[in-house]
Amino acid sequence: MSEEDGNYMSPKEKSMIDLINHDGGQIIPLIYSDGDIYKKELDQIFGRSWLFLAHTDQIPSAGDYVSTFMGEDPIIVVRQPDGSVAAFLNQCRHRGMRVCRTDCGKARAFTCTYHGWAYDISGRLVNVPLEKEAYHGEIDKEAWGLVRVPRIAVFRNLVFGCWDETVPELEDYIGEAAWYMDIMFDRSGGGNELISGVHKWTISCNWKLAAEQFASDMYHAPVSHLSAVLASMPENAAPLDADWPKEGRQFRARRFGHGSGFFTSERGWDFNVNTMGQTIVDYLAGKHSDGAVRHLGEMRGRRVTGQHMTIFPNFSFLPGINVLRVWHPKGPEEIEVWSMILVDKDAPDEVKQAYRDRVTRMFGPSGIFEQDDAENWIEVQRVLKGHRARISPFNVSMGKGHAAEDVEFPGIVSGMFSEEASRGFFQHWARMMDGQSWAELTQPLV
Ligand code: FES
Ligand SMILES: [Fe+2]
Repeated sequence: MSEEDGNYMSPKEKSMIDLINHDGGQIIPLIYSDGDIYKKELDQIFGRSWLFLAHTDQIPSAGDYVSTFMGEDPIIVVRQPDGSVAAFLNQCRHRGMRVCRTDCGKARAFTCTYHGWAYDISGRLVNVPLEKEAYHGEIDKEAWGLVRVPRIAVFRNLVFGCWDETVPELEDYIGEAAWYMDIMFDRSGGGNELISGVHKWTISCNWKLAAEQFASDMYHAPVSHLSAVLASMPENAAPLDADWPKEGRQFRARRFGHGSGFFTSERGWDFNVNTMGQTIVDYLAGKHSDGAVRHLGEMRGRRVTGQHMTIFPNFSFLPGINVLRVWHPKGPEEIEVWSMILVDKDAPDEVKQAYRDRVTRMFGPSGIFEQDDAENWIEVQRVLKGHRARISPFNVSMGKGHAAEDVEFPGIVSGMFSEEASRGFFQHWARMMDGQSWAELTQPLV
């Protein structure tokens, strides 16, 4: 693989393993911009992975639904009369119109606005206008129900769906990442609750720039977010207070591409006071945290701060800050960000209100931290329009050879400033893109 003459094979002809060149700690940035690679991702990644669909709080009772996407496929997620959750392709079986055109609501049926076919909440075709006159009573309505997402599973109130019936059980797929997820989703043992609607906005960048950053990139924070941290500090703060802690860990899942990282230093709380406010810090580190320590232990209950995490491919979150993200792909160069706020169900009301205020201020569409990240991703993507820019390798070697198993932390673990999880993300991505079966993908990388 050489960029000297720009003489790459078409991505269609190449193994994706060559584009990520794991051993050399490099990636070819074509993977962020190439249209053929993107189309393949819709089939091989989004067509075969477990994808986050909804929080159960969004659909508490029968007929409640939310519209979402699996890759670029529009999806309706709807609570069934028996309490289970079903998901359907939001595409009329007549001529392809979306049968649901609202974000969320309660329905007894979904009626297509084109010619009026109607489907009940179990996806069955229940009404065809002029059935006798136009179809002579011969249409088999049982055969023309909405296309159902075959695999649905719920983990910690998070509903996931998958098109591939051969995918491992969701709990196996999440695997050792659950230990890190529970810092946010099962902190108190009393369950979690979604307290917001969904903020939605677009960013002109490839979905992987966002997903891998949340999996693996603490390195950007002291530089990209310095101005936001300084702006959040009190006027009389010492300059040293802007010096970020260096103690922490990064986690790379042995299988399936998940990653996380966090501070383990007590210093981590200083930043949280300035950015998240005293109410939230008292809740996470002070008098309210004893229950979390009893439930998860001292490390997960109190010590971990500033955590970032991605469940492959496009579901990310920041425990402590408690923002959830779905990076919906919209072509190779655009994403629609969906952002939600989650809290411990048993948190006091003033803590829930503090989260609503702070997360919106820091990580809402115009949040002071949020804009730092979008600025970087948009700029990287813009540069990749160039002929030479999109074939010149990127360095993804940080911390290579310095990760290992750890008695305290599941998975493969390195220092917090590392690209170990990024390499794990891309190794899994390449194996999926090359068409490995789930039986093959289930073999650990290490
Ligand atoms: S496209 Fe839906 S009824 Fe014709
Ligand atoms: Fe960031």
